[in-house]
Amino acid sequence: MVINLKNTLKLRTFDINNDIKDIETAAEILRNGGIVAIPTETVYGLAADAFDSEAVKKIFEAKGRPQDNPLIVHISDFEQIYSIAREVPEKAKALADAFWPGPLTIILPKREEIPSETSGGLDTVAVRMPSHDVAREIIARSCPLAAPSANISGFPSPTSFDHVEADMTGRADAICNGGDCDVGVESTVITLATEIPVLLRPGGVTLEQLESILGEVRVADAVLNPMKKDEKAESPGMKYKHYSPDAQIQIVRGNLKEFADFVNSSDCDGVLCFEGEEEHFPEKICVTFGREDDSLSQAQRLFDALRELDEKGSKNVFSRAPSENGVGLAVCNRLYRAAAFRFVNAKKTIVGLTGPTGAGKGFISEYLKKLGCYVSDTDAIAREITMKDSPFLGILAEHFGQDIIDENGELKRKLLAERAFKTKESQILLNSLMHPEIIRISVERCNDAIEKGAAAAIIDAPLLFEAGADKYCDTIIAVIAPKEIRIERIMKRDGITREQALGRMSVQHEDEFYTMKSEFTVRSFEPYDAEEELKGFVEKYLGQVM
Ligand code: TXA
Ligand code: MG
Repeated sequence: MVINLKNTLKLRTFDINNDIKDIETAAEILRNGGIVAIPTETVYGLAADAFDSEAVKKIFEAKGRPQDNPLIVHISDFEQIYSIAREVPEKAKALADAFWPGPLTIILPKREEIPSETSGGLDTVAVRMPSHDVAREIIARSCPLAAPSANISGFPSPTSFDHVEADMTGRADAICNGGDCDVGVESTVITLATEIPVLLRPGGVTLEQLESILGEVRVADAVLNPMKKDEKAESPGMKYKHYSPDAQIQIVRGNLKEFADFVNSSDCDGVLCFEGEEEHFPEKICVTFGREDDSLSQAQRLFDALRELDEKGSKNVFSRAPSENGVGLAVCNRLYRAAAFRFVNAKKTIVGLTGPTGAGKGFISEYLKKLGCYVSDTDAIAREITMKDSPFLGILAEHFGQDIIDENGELKRKLLAERAFKTKESQILLNSLMHPEIIRISVERCNDAIEKGAAAAIIDAPLLFEAGADKYCDTIIAVIAPKEIRIERIMKRDGITREQALGRMSVQHEDEFYTMKSEFTVRSFEPYDAEEELKGFVEKYLGQVM
């Protein structure tokens, strides 16, 4: 492709009166089937007429983008949506009302007129109305524009004119200069083509904002986790390498002090940290990405920071771990990919392991032990504190009668059970005595094990949430399994009948009770592959420590 610098437009500050000629030039190139890099409030896009398959093909060629990764169609006027989407549900209108123009992309069933080049061969199409004046004016003067981020595929998206110039000179027919991008990460992508809306890519419009309009929104697994082997991508873009600088990045969990101690005793050459922290790393190449307590500023800076690391020649970089809340979800989604999900723990983790009976927690804790984790079994602690000579027996006797302890100092378990399970109140009383004691011991042992060098400490607790132990956990793994498998396991394990097993299961929560509150879910089938199931967890929390 010929370099076309003549058409490199200078639109640094958009002023409709001064820049209108350049905008018109860009629109004309697009009307004639050319490709132009345009500014948007999120990142720069590489645009072409969304209805022109030949023009759209040029985008894929210029970026080196896989053909099956669909593009977003950008509009300047809501009515244009009807020329793109076959159906526009009320939910889409409500989202548009609330967030357009702005950093939100909505996926809807597509009209035939949208060529399969634009939609990556899918029956759905992504639509967004950018809030950047230049982008909207160019669309208004041309047509709806298909535009992916204007970077070479696999590299960080461009958030300044310099970035686009570096990536697209000689590849695009023209490059427009609209200054630095406000948001700094690509738009939020949500699909309304499913029963429950799914957040496919977090961005400037947050999950909480989407929920305030839509109610329930499911977050795609791949937002914060690597794709599993054989997992089908909910959005084609999830499959591909993204945002990767040449430098190898690893994300370090821990506070500033833990981070600095870890980094300064390592032989890394680069540090990605928050503003104001530079002085802690006098011997490293240091690049900042926003302020620690401000996800918006991190989003704005992240891609530029990644490019800066490469420019400064850094090869081996440790990064601070940003918050995953609000716009932080978008920051983490990009940063985790830039780091190829490599994590290091300067802070060691307490992990909750929970799930209904027979789901297979035991298998998982055995596997985690092999990886160097300490496992504290709360059922075992419950037995321990009710053994002969345990001081806790005195507390039980105080509330349930001295006669629950026999002359040898042994607990009469049957008698205690009779008294404790008599009324709801007595049962609550027993729990309110047992649970805090079990948690206290469990957390104490976990901290001890971490101090002594365990990779992580696991609190294995069927009643993790009910007992309030989740408060002490940095992350939680839920283990669930199909009912049939659980029945058989319980029958075999406890030597009971099918009816008895069913009885036990009937008093337990549904799977969602566990999975909704847990960061990781293991679906335990038989035979199953613990290594594969726990890959995301291991990569995120055990990282190099193991
Ligand atoms: O902020 C943005 O969205 C920027 C600016 C230029 O508007 N554009 C952008 O485009 O980030 P791109 O192509 O880099 O990312 C589009 C993402 C991809 O991950 C793609 O797989 C997904 O949206 N996508 C597009 N159409 C889809 C569809 N029909 N179903 C599922 N995912 C889709
Ligand atoms: Mg992109």
